[in-house]
Amino acid sequence: MSGDLLNLTLRIWRQAGPDDKGAFRNYQLNGVSTHMSFLEMLDVLNEQLIESGEEPVEFDHDCREGICGMCSLMINGQAHGPDKATTTCQLHMRRFNNGDTITIEPWRASAFPVIRDLVVDRSAFDRIISTGGYVSVSTGNAPDGNAIPVPGNRQEVAMDAAACIGCGACVAACKNASAMLFVSAKVSQLAILPQGVPERNQRVLGMVAKMDDEGFGHCTNTNECEAACPAEISVSNIARLNREYLRASIVAGT
Ligand code: SF4
Ligand code: FES
Repeated sequence: MSGDLLNLTLRIWRQAGPDDKGAFRNYQLNGVSTHMSFLEMLDVLNEQLIESGEEPVEFDHDCREGICGMCSLMINGQAHGPDKATTTCQLHMRRFNNGDTITIEPWRASAFPVIRDLVVDRSAFDRIISTGGYVSVSTGNAPDGNAIPVPGNRQEVAMDAAACIGCGACVAACKNASAMLFVSAKVSQLAILPQGVPERNQRVLGMVAKMDDEGFGHCTNTNECEAACPAEISVSNIARLNREYLRASIVAGT
């Protein structure tokens, strides 16, 4: 066997639908190029399954460039696999060894129900965003960069928070299936900038209430979310979310 090719055992979660119990199934896949991405490797497996008359494995993907947040796989117990700041679509097969067994599961969180195989329903995130994760006035064309002065350090913090791609790895990595890192990134991105300030209070109160309503757990500061996040969103945003929430609660009570 060439050093560029791997023989692998894939232990993959198969679930025919939301009400199916689901189970792991083993597949042997030989001759996997180390130059492939993880999703290309699954494409090759699916071609093999289709040729043998078996249903292909359903998995989410879109951009395959680390931008859209669609690819959501638990690989050997780690959200998006072993590499730091890397989505599943950016993960390469050179990260694995010949003869490896790779366990591939969907995100596990009751707020993200499995639709089929490795695909989960992440529309709970959309519903949280729709309770306030936006600026509701029409902003028109992009204004000149200096029309509203923003201190450089604040702009940097807002842009870092805006890097969240909504993938859900933070929820999958958290033992409480908490969505605090995701919500804190969305709240921070707008709370820091002047355009987001008028709706600051209703935004944080609405998004946190919706997060709880959707069944996400609470944050107990284990920081697994930050470790799993492909966009390197900092847990300092969770501290900001808590401050924003406290502030808005006091204002709402006066
Ligand atoms: S905070 Fe990170 S892990 Fe969570 S949804 Fe955003 S990009 Fe994904
Ligand atoms: S497919 Fe878009 S981030 Fe992976």
